[in-house]
Amino acid sequence: MRIDIITVLPELLSPLQHSIVKRAVDKGVAEIHVHDLRQFGIGNYKQVDDYPYGGGGGMVLKPEPLSDCLEMLLKERAYDEIIYLTPDGITLNQKAVNTLSLKNNICLICGHYKGIDQRIRDEYVTLEISIGDYVLSGGEQAAVILTDAIIRILPGAIGDEMSALSDSFQDNLLAPPVYTKPEIWKDRKVPEVLLSGNHKAIDEWRLEQALEITRNKRPDLL
Ligand code: ADE
Repeated sequence: MRIDIITVLPELLSPLQHSIVKRAVDKGVAEIHVHDLRQFGIGNYKQVDDYPYGGGGGMVLKPEPLSDCLEMLLKERAYDEIIYLTPDGITLNQKAVNTLSLKNNICLICGHYKGIDQRIRDEYVTLEISIGDYVLSGGEQAAVILTDAIIRILPGAIGDEMSALSDSFQDNLLAPPVYTKPEIWKDRKVPEVLLSGNHKAIDEWRLEQALEITRNKRPDLL
């Protein structure tokens, strides 16, 4: 899978150069290409934003640099989705992540300041995604979260194939508790069943725990 990300602040995407995403990219499971919108800026100052028509605070990303960048990318490949990260998009959840992980090429547009000119949304954007009901300074952090969530579930990204499947939300349940050594810590003992070696009993215990935790914390998921 290939993910292109358009941004005015490429350095904010640096979390994608670490951990599981980095390993997945190194292994060839996914490609991430970051495009600095400034390179498509207008004039000597490489202008990418301007004041909003009608007044009001903040700046708006101009249509021409975004369209030049998108047209350059579209010459090379068609995209399954061109996604604009915005608080007024559909709220991201695991189901949407799973669906996107099946695509071959997606392009993410990170807004900044007050957002992007509406005409880019009308002309190019096929999907608008929010990572939650709060406003960030820009779409980059949202793009990092979306990219991480997609790439970590691609086959081969995580060593233990089962691991991503047993994440919270993959079956609409929160994950059961996990423990590691030592067996006793501050008088707190690891549940006996996890030490039993009985995998059927362990699976049953995990499912019971997942159900109970989901019932208590997120009954809306059930
Ligand atoms: N840009 C600013 N806030 C955002 C949010 N909540 N989700 C996605 N993109 C954003």
